[in-house]
Order: sequence, then structure tokens, then C-alpha cells
Amino acid sequence: MQRISGIADMRARVVDWQRAGLRVGFVPTMGNLHGGHLALVDKARALSDRVVVSIFVNPAQFGPNEDYATYPRTGEADCAALDASGVDCVFLPAVDAMYPDGAGPRTRVEVPELNGMLCDVSRPGFFNGVATVVAKLLNIVTPDLAVFGLKDYQQLLVVQRLVRDLNLPVDIIGGPIAREPDGLAMSSRNVYLTADERERAPALYRALCHVASRLERGEPDWPLLVAEGLDRLREAGMQPDYLEIRRADDLAEALTSDHELVIPGAAYLGRARLIDNVRVSLPTPGQRD
Ligand code: PAJ
Repeated sequence: MQRISGIADMRARVVDWQRAGLRVGFVPTMGNLHGGHLALVDKARALSDRVVVSIFVNPAQFGPNEDYATYPRTGEADCAALDASGVDCVFLPAVDAMYPDGAGPRTRVEVPELNGMLCDVSRPGFFNGVATVVAKLLNIVTPDLAVFGLKDYQQLLVVQRLVRDLNLPVDIIGGPIAREPDGLAMSSRNVYLTADERERAPALYRALCHVASRLERGEPDWPLLVAEGLDRLREAGMQPDYLEIRRADDLAEALTSDHELVIPGAAYLGRARLIDNVRVSLPTPGQRD
């Protein structure tokens, strides 16, 4: 596996492959890799001839009181795991190379339709930071396809929208959520959980599944379902951020006439902020009885 940190070198590597007719897949990450990241790598490998993974802890997507300084950086272990997964190239740019004028308010990409809701409310500016760095990474790596996890559902929609709106020539593919055996979605930030919190953490997924199965069984009182879900989070000792029933394709507030839904949830547990979601396809009204 080749390690590249220079932007021009990265671009040249991929151009060579593409000139040789090879299809290049890309998985952007912030490192501290786990099974969820590696599942995205597997998906990229299945769909392309060469796979590039980036590891870059992006300062522009962290709020002033967030964990940029302490975000787990495990570069050597990450590179070993990527090598073992058959990745061809890892891109490790320095912060100064990505943001030579600082990560402050410079040219940026913003997807306003997906701001002002869900994670953007408690993490203002987060998605602008993500959209900007993803646009930069896609312009540097110039992959044919890029894989993003469905775990960060709002992020995936932000990326799909920016690629469409900026006419970037890349296919954005969603990869399924990888979970621990007890249902907790894998996350680099799960290391922040104490042993006791780790035991309670699967309550988020269980609450989302509870709401999903009640929806599927035709419960018409959606505010009641949301209240039940939030209660379950509180009972597990979490401080809920949100739990909502949204339309899957654009995260707009869902109407009872919508069929393709997603239930996104976020909750604080100790030092960690957990996020997860569950998709629900309701039968068409004619099939409902
Ligand atoms: P990071 O949190 O490292 O995640 C990198 C990719 O892995 C994202 O697409 C994320 O959705 C996916 N991922 C994380 N946990 C997952 C899980 N349990 N199952 C499936 N996929 C999972 O997300 C980011 O980094 C950054 O915001 C980034 C897109 C790299 C921009 O800086």
C-alpha cells in the first residue's frame, strides 16, 4: 500500500490509474478505523479496480468546544488495517496542505437545505466543514466513485447534494451501518464511553427500532411514538438531542402519507454523543390493512 501526503502526488497517482482505464474508488475518513470504515473499503473494492482511503482529521468541521485536539489519532494501526484490507493507497494530507491560509472562514461549500435541522442544530457549522473538505478531497483524489456510511445519514445526503449541485463527476454510494453484536453502531467516538456507558449505549438503536416497528405496525400517533423513543433514551441515562421521523430522501419532516422514512436519533452519554438511524418503508395505503 502506498502512502501519499502531497496533494499533487495524490492527483498524479489517480490520473495514472485512470489513464490506464482503471476505475478508482475512494473512502474519506478521519481515521481511528473500525469495522464500519473497513466495510466501506470492502464495498469500494468490490466496485472499483483501485481503492484510495484518506485519513484527515478535518479542523473545519469541529466546533470550538468539540474534541478536535483529543480526537483519537491512530495512524499506524489504521495503515496496517488498510493494508490488510487490500487498499492501494492511503492519502494522509497535513492540515497546512489542506488549509494553507488556516481553517477559518475561507471559500466554503454549504448545502443550506440540509442545515438548520437535526445534527446541524447542536453542531452549527459542522456540515459546512464536512461539505467543504469533501469537495476538496473529491477534487484532489478525483475518484470515479466514493463510499460514505449510512450511519451519518444527514452527512451522506449533504455529500450527494453537493456533488449534484456542483456537477462533480463522481458516483456517491451509501454503505450500510456496521454494528457491534449488541446493536451499537460502530463509531470512532465509542472509545469515549466508560464500561457502564458502553453497556447502556445500545439503548439508542433499540429506541429507534422500537419506533420503527410501531410505525411498521401502523401506529397513527407519530408524536406518541417519538415521545416513547425519547423516554427510552432518558431511561437508559442518556440526554436525548433528537429523535424524529423524517422523509428518507431529503430529511424533511415526514407526513403520514410518506412511505420511505428514516428515524434519525442522537443522544449524549457521558463524554460521547451517539448518532444512529433506522430506515422504514411503509406499505402503500392500499396495502396497509
Ligand atoms: P469518519 O467519522 O471517520 O467516518 C468516515 C466514513 O465512515 C463516513 O462515511 C461514515 O459515515 C462512515 N462510518 C462511520 N461509522 C460507520 C458505521 N458504523 N457503519 C458504516 N459506516 C460508518 O464522517 C467522517 O469521518 C468525516 O465527516 C468525513 C466524511 C471524512 C469528512 O471529514
